[in-house]
Amino acid sequence: MKEKEIICKFKIYGYEELADSDRELVDRAKDATRTSYAPYSEFRVGAAARLSDGTIVTGSNQENAAFPSGTCAERTALFYANAAHPDESVVELAVAAYTNGTFLKAPIPPCGACRQVILGIEERYKRPIRILLFGTEGTYVTDSAKALLPLQFTGESMKE
Ligand code: THU
Repeated sequence: MKEKEIICKFKIYGYEELADSDRELVDRAKDATRTSYAPYSEFRVGAAARLSDGTIVTGSNQENAAFPSGTCAERTALFYANAAHPDESVVELAVAAYTNGTFLKAPIPPCGACRQVILGIEERYKRPIRILLFGTEGTYVTDSAKALLPLQFTGESMKE
């Protein structure tokens, strides 16, 4: 028997401690919560993706009465980024969530499906995506979706 441990490393920054460009991306994610359509969960999520040419695109969660037909903020932003700017890679992604009249204290970690999508985009463009998860009591920062998704399934996994 062997045992293996996978360590998930991230940094936690106070809002004021963030570099200006990080604060800008977090602010865009916070702003994007306003475009959320979340009549069912009342949980408004915003995401902002910075592309390799510096463009920032944003997205928010869009719900549907048939729950699985809706989508998360992260995937809205990322798929829009790839559809509108297919020649630019996504280099950073910020996420913020707002509910009951306030931004959440603790960051929301992206759901499993979104982690898989972030990973797939890293693989597609062959570069890691820095992830900033905003919370009013701290922003978690990781260098890649790999830190959020141990034992990843990628295109490589299907090769012998
Ligand atoms: N949601 C996101 O947009 N991103 C996440 O990382 C987690 C959850 C959305 C989906 C749904 O509209 C609402 O939040 C409640 O799950």
